[in-house]
Amino acid sequence: MSTFPPTFLWGASTSPHQIEGNNVNSDWWAREGLVPGMEPSGDANDSYHRYREDMEMLAGAGLTSYRFGIEWARIEPRPGQFSNAELAHYRRMIDTALELDLTPVVTLHHFSNPRWFAEEGGWLSPTATERFAAYVTKASEILDGVKWVITINEPNMMAMMVMLQEAMRAGQLSQWQSPTVEGESDRDRIAAALPVPTPEYARPFIAAHLAARAIIRKRTDAKVGWSIANGALYSTPENAAKLMEVRHSGEDLYLEASVGDDFIGVQAYSAQEVDANGLVPHPEHPDNTITGAAYRPDALGTAVRHAAAVTGLPVLVTENGIAATDDTRRIAYTTEALRHLESAIKDGIDVRGYLHWSLLDNYEWGHWGPTFGLVAVDRATFVRTPKPSLAWLGSVARTHGDSLGTA
Ligand code: BGC
Repeated sequence: MSTFPPTFLWGASTSPHQIEGNNVNSDWWAREGLVPGMEPSGDANDSYHRYREDMEMLAGAGLTSYRFGIEWARIEPRPGQFSNAELAHYRRMIDTALELDLTPVVTLHHFSNPRWFAEEGGWLSPTATERFAAYVTKASEILDGVKWVITINEPNMMAMMVMLQEAMRAGQLSQWQSPTVEGESDRDRIAAALPVPTPEYARPFIAAHLAARAIIRKRTDAKVGWSIANGALYSTPENAAKLMEVRHSGEDLYLEASVGDDFIGVQAYSAQEVDANGLVPHPEHPDNTITGAAYRPDALGTAVRHAAAVTGLPVLVTENGIAATDDTRRIAYTTEALRHLESAIKDGIDVRGYLHWSLLDNYEWGHWGPTFGLVAVDRATFVRTPKPSLAWLGSVARTHGDSLGTA
């Protein structure tokens, strides 16, 4: 008998900049043209035009939910100038999901900002919250029928990105670093030297989240929350105090700020050690994934338990997955991750859904190499080829987890 409740959402996640293509008014697009060695997003997966096909694949496989984002840089290409055509585009996406019986989970901000917002000082500008709130107010007009809204994706990663940009400006960091691909430059050294992210970097995101939450609550009937990058951090007993300190500034600060939300979005991929000096970069290992992370399917259970303990909120797993070329590895990783999730549910944790990262092989923030998708995409023709993992996850969804069997 399945542990996963019948109303459990089974789905996959994406973000606009990573799949849409030609997000030309965003700060990421601008950066891609300037940083040597950084691959451009270009046409990405052309999902801006092919979103129906993407959603049909998802629904056809048996999944019941799709998490996607709406792009601030498109909706507000100049400060205060909103595009009705882009709002209508995202409304069509929501309608398509509803038509296909996919529960839409809509993200309002996923790493990319309008270029003008970045030029104005970005998240460190005194007007950041006001700017974000104006966008969210406008975006709330198209959210009718949406039951789940994520205000900001991984504010803790965002805070780290802002901190790294500041370090680059100050000449402390010589080379741009992808936020999600490890071991390319001196990021780990900087991160260890400046425990990430210090509270002043968290503050603007918390303020923006609370403002957005109030707007969404007033103007829609969606459940509202945000999604946190959960590191499943651990240490030896001697380093327990350092673990608490690092976890607090990097994670718990944001979990604590979500008290009063309707749910907490958990995003877990790997686990990471903290020693006396802070976060320990994942050591090289043949099992490491393409992004350099340790192969740790157990991270999901740890992350869900920790997030639930700190927030007391229902959990929605908004991202979990693996960058792998071998799809059997994706299935093996996800099987194990879901068993850990099932065991957390058995222990009484209120988990509302599992959204796999990602539906498509997409633009991994500066790189095209790490492939997280349930579906491969030819980047010249945009032809989509589902991998066996898509049908596999669909069968898990259709059997409410029964097909996972027992370990
Ligand atoms: C982000 C995604 C990213 C994924 C895999 C998360 O940090 O929200 O945008 O692609 O991890 O690295």
